[in-house]
Amino acid sequence: MQHVKIGFVGTDGRSLLAALETSRATSDLYPGPYQGLVVRGTPAMPHWAVKLNWPVGFVAVPENSVAAYAEALIRAFEEEVLDLALIMPEALIFNGLVDRVAAAGFGDRLIGPDQNAAFVEGDKIACKRLCREAGIPVAPAWTEVDARNFQTVLGVCLDYLHDFGGVVLKYPYSAGGKGARIILNAWEIKEVYDVLMQDYKDDYTRLCGKKAAWPLLIEARMSGVEISFTIFVDKKGHYQILPTALDYPERFEGPPGLDNPITGGMGSISPHPLESPELLALAAETLARPLVNTLKEKGLLRPCVLYPGCFVSFDQALRPKAIRVCEVNVRPGEPEFQPVVKRLRNLGALIQAMAAGHLDQVAPEVRQNQISLCLALVTGPGGPKQQKGYPWSLTKGEVLDVDFDYFEKKKITLVPSAMDYDDDEACFKSDGSRVVFLVANATVKEGQRRGHVVENLRQKLLNAYDQRKIRVIPRENPGGNRLALRRDIGRHFSLAEELWIGN
Ligand code: GLY
Repeated sequence: MQHVKIGFVGTDGRSLLAALETSRATSDLYPGPYQGLVVRGTPAMPHWAVKLNWPVGFVAVPENSVAAYAEALIRAFEEEVLDLALIMPEALIFNGLVDRVAAAGFGDRLIGPDQNAAFVEGDKIACKRLCREAGIPVAPAWTEVDARNFQTVLGVCLDYLHDFGGVVLKYPYSAGGKGARIILNAWEIKEVYDVLMQDYKDDYTRLCGKKAAWPLLIEARMSGVEISFTIFVDKKGHYQILPTALDYPERFEGPPGLDNPITGGMGSISPHPLESPELLALAAETLARPLVNTLKEKGLLRPCVLYPGCFVSFDQALRPKAIRVCEVNVRPGEPEFQPVVKRLRNLGALIQAMAAGHLDQVAPEVRQNQISLCLALVTGPGGPKQQKGYPWSLTKGEVLDVDFDYFEKKKITLVPSAMDYDDDEACFKSDGSRVVFLVANATVKEGQRRGHVVENLRQKLLNAYDQRKIRVIPRENPGGNRLALRRDIGRHFSLAEELWIGN
């Protein structure tokens, strides 16, 4: 039987792991066969796949431009190297990758919105209006101001602090998840504002020019439990909600702030400890259905992935009371998609159904008794210029040292991300931000507490790091380890049990 060949477009860990799980997961209902390929990837990935004997293919893209991606995809579809492809990086969507591939006659092969719908993620103010039209609950108050008018910003911040106890300044355009800045008291307003303006003044100038207003979104700070939903949507408007995940966006444990910035994500776990059938039903009713229907009514619907970031409130019996949306992304989350796909047995069939328009007939086949934990190992501080480390300044090009046998024995999947391969020295090297992810599943057996299982799983991943089974060798200290991590990823399972079950 011919393989259905599915490409995952991009250069980060979620693309490689999704390709791997597409090839290797076994579904009873949809045996396939499916083959996962990475469209571009990083230089390390093909070498990594060969070393570990992973059944993953690669489609080369010579440079990181939309034109190069479009050309590679069109050729891969023409030559039947690929049947379908799912776009991961939002920048490719914003810059019209789908439109280019569709113009060549292959639009029905590609999962992702076109430029007309890209505003859902690319313009947070326009997305707020869309949510209002769709009746989707968002922050209790929000407004748009001219970012250069500090007096107006100050006034709104003081009002929202008074009314809601916190306020969020949001650069409204693409910011890789880093454009939201939280203010919890009046003394922080000026500094947070100045840092945000410093970070985005070049982007504002490029997008809006120097004369026009620079739109800034100011939102009342919401409280509640943050939950990541991943929604697969087909071309007819059928949708399936995948397992939930919990993201750990702050660089360090504890509340976000100037010294604890929001990163691309330091780790994640799936399911979210508070996932329940009631939660998924509420997400379908108040979020997925109105969003998909509104996109359809407006003629913006294409097969795509919607990934809304939400705050959820629960009652004392763990019943979800309300879901409020803080933003909607039009691509899978990184790293949340990694533990989500690690629990899926039919990713290939789901993607095939998205393109074909019969997602109503293919439900996610989830390894319900498994929990998946994903931990990012990032470039830590130090280096020739005393770099601060991720997410600030980074040193690159240092040799990676891995005990591959150990990870295989422990059933921990190592997913390379910002990683290079040195052909001359025949070795892997770090290439910046999130160098590699550790991903592993644990099975919850009859009578076991999930919090207990997750603690063991967390310890297993932390032990691998503490025992130096993987490290990036610092130039200045051959015995050290440049990689850094967050140690609390997954702890919320125990916290949830303490709160709702009692110990
Ligand atoms: N984990 C955050 C993001 O993917 O935007």
